[in-house]
Amino acid sequence: MTNIAHQLESIRSQFPSLARTINGTPAVYLDGPAGTQVPQRVVDCISNSMLHHNANRSGRFATSREVDEQMSQSHRVFADFLGAASPDSIAFGPNMTSLTLQFSRALAKQWRPGDRILVSSLDHDANFTPWVLAAKDAGVEVKAIGIRSSDATLDMNSLDELLTDRTRLVAVTAASNAVGSLTPIREIANRSHAVGAELFVDAVHLAPHRSIDVTELDCDFLVCSAYKFFGPHIGVLYGRTQRMLELTPYKLRPAPDSLPGRWMTGTQNHACIAGAAEAVEYIASLSTIADSGSNLRFRIMDAMKAISEYETQLVAHLIQGLASISGIRTFGITGSQRMVERAPTVCFQVDGRKSIDVAQYLGDNGVFSWHGNYYALPLTQALGTEPDGMVRLGCMHYNTVDEIDRTLELINRLSAR
Ligand SMILES: Cc1ncc(COP(=O)(O)O)c(C=O)c1O
Repeated sequence: MTNIAHQLESIRSQFPSLARTINGTPAVYLDGPAGTQVPQRVVDCISNSMLHHNANRSGRFATSREVDEQMSQSHRVFADFLGAASPDSIAFGPNMTSLTLQFSRALAKQWRPGDRILVSSLDHDANFTPWVLAAKDAGVEVKAIGIRSSDATLDMNSLDELLTDRTRLVAVTAASNAVGSLTPIREIANRSHAVGAELFVDAVHLAPHRSIDVTELDCDFLVCSAYKFFGPHIGVLYGRTQRMLELTPYKLRPAPDSLPGRWMTGTQNHACIAGAAEAVEYIASLSTIADSGSNLRFRIMDAMKAISEYETQLVAHLIQGLASISGIRTFGITGSQRMVERAPTVCFQVDGRKSIDVAQYLGDNGVFSWHGNYYALPLTQALGTEPDGMVRLGCMHYNTVDEIDRTLELINRLSAR
């Protein structure tokens, strides 16, 4: 059985940045929700690609053929990463935001006055404003699904109240990048499809923490971003093959009409797309299932199961530790029985201190955290944490219990001052 704790030394040795020290003490990277650290093999892959396989596509010479082959391979790897039946249903782009903005324009062309679009108050702005802008252009109504402020989870009753037979799209996150709450995507898909609406899922925050299966989730479209799971800055879009063929992309003549190229505008970042696929291979390498060359999906799922088990222990330890410090208010799901309902991302406030000052104190002492609202403004407004925001600690599989203890010790010291 794959177990992350048993592999921690070997895992950490693959990330050169984890050896860094700040004022003589080892740095603690709890800033992963804003971008994770990168293993050496991903950097080597990007560097190899740029040094030895650097060409534009479709040429009749060796390096161009190699880029074509590497791109095809990256589409296959990401189909395995997301559980998609076809590599053609995977498109790459600069980041999730750009892909979503571009895609929203294509989808909005099908909307008519009187239609309704649903976004959610749990979401990052990247899955909120693109739909608000597209709805404005198309002259359709936008409503935001509310949250339950008691545990910062999506309010499914609010979803039911807002869904009508004129709802064309539901855009929702799979996990909050601020407070870590997971959303029941399969259930949201069922309810959306029941009224004829499509479902667009932001899986940016979920991707480093759980395996994703677009087929099982039954979502129509899903986006993620490789720099959140140990890769470079590349966005990935999945769409149902039929829909990706039917919709008309905003594209130029150099992009083909066929899949997947019709959704990939301009010259792609070939080296980083290769690196993003290598990040998926890195995740799969954590599985103890032997690599048979054709079982990538199984190895990813096995590794992600082990990652989520390990991270669930880390976050339970962190939340329990925060609860034992006086003057700390932790947001989101905190009950020990409910840890599986959350990603290992925790937001808290220290009584009488601004989040920026807490993050500064932690940073000065070698612990990297974030402060503010993480562009999840409707959520932080609903939680009443504006304008000072919250401090965010995000655990990744490369973090250790010792690091969590060091962080808790610092928070304890600060709150006692
Ligand atoms: C949940 C979530 N969605 C979307 C984004 C935007 O992703 P990108 O930076 O790839 O545009 C972020 C970035 O922090 C995020 O956390």
